[in-house]
Amino acid sequence: MFHGQRYGLVFVNKRWAILIGGSSDLALETIQGLRGITDMYFFVHCRNPSLRINNLQLDLGERMVLHVADLENEDAVIKMTSIILHICDKPFVYLHFAAPPLEFHRFKDSSTKTFQSAFSVQTLAATILLRSLLPKMKKNADNLSAQVIFVLSEVVSGKPPKGMTEYVVGKYAMLGLMRALSAEFEAAKIYFHAITPGMMETKFLKNVPEIVVESARNRTIGGLESVKSVASKLLKIINDPDKFIEDASYLR
Ligand SMILES: NC(=O)c1ccc[n+]([C@@H]2O[C@H](COP(=O)([O-])OP(=O)(O)OC[C@H]3O[C@@H](n4cnc5c(N)ncnc54)[C@H](OP(=O)(O)O)[C@@H]3O)[C@@H](O)[C@H]2O)c1
Repeated sequence: MFHGQRYGLVFVNKRWAILIGGSSDLALETIQGLRGITDMYFFVHCRNPSLRINNLQLDLGERMVLHVADLENEDAVIKMTSIILHICDKPFVYLHFAAPPLEFHRFKDSSTKTFQSAFSVQTLAATILLRSLLPKMKKNADNLSAQVIFVLSEVVSGKPPKGMTEYVVGKYAMLGLMRALSAEFEAAKIYFHAITPGMMETKFLKNVPEIVVESARNRTIGGLESVKSVASKLLKIINDPDKFIEDASYLR
């Protein structure tokens, strides 16, 4: 589904932020921080348009294009890719937030379907989109260095928690994709970053037992991360991509 009947319009000379999983709590907070950049336009993907995202669209008007697609449906991702290519003449930053909600269960209770879902919504969708978008970003990168940022998780550094194998494997696959693309596009002016947040209180945790969230909340060191602080790290990267390469909490 494509909102706003704007399919026929082409926006010339605009810098685009493309947010996959743009309805995530973290993405919505990030957009609030980016909207101050007045020449930035937003291509916002979601699966279920919420009141919050519809209100944001009303608020941003023509600066935001909202697109609905289930990333588990490959044809829908291919269609969305061609719409982005048609609309966004200067893709400036690609942000991948989408991930299936976190589920805790033992490895023996996992299934091919749960692994497929973690892979489709993250790595496969990003692969399909970036295969077409990166050449365009590379072409524009002479005047404007472009960026690709994946939202991973602290599970990719050190020993991961038990009971979330699909999630851990899904995030490592995204990390692999980021590193491979970073090597392949080394000569282009495209920055590849990933952030690795700890647990944040968002709808992503809706299936996580309260006791797990409570114990994270009560950790003396670390505790829960706030969505605002993680969004502000993303904004710092977007505003100054060079600076973050050496920061241990970011992976390049
Ligand atoms: N919350 C945490 O504790 C935490 C910690 C570390 C990293 N992260 C990462 O942060 C990112 C953002 O998560 P969040 O916490 O802001 O949670 P969230 O609000 O639940 O965001 C998840 C996003 O993924 C989208 N999504 C899920 N399945 C989809 C599908 N089949 N097709 C299309 N879109 C799909 C959702 O779309 P709809 O809302 O439209 O359904 C939503 O935009 C995720 O990558 C997550 O792994 C979260």
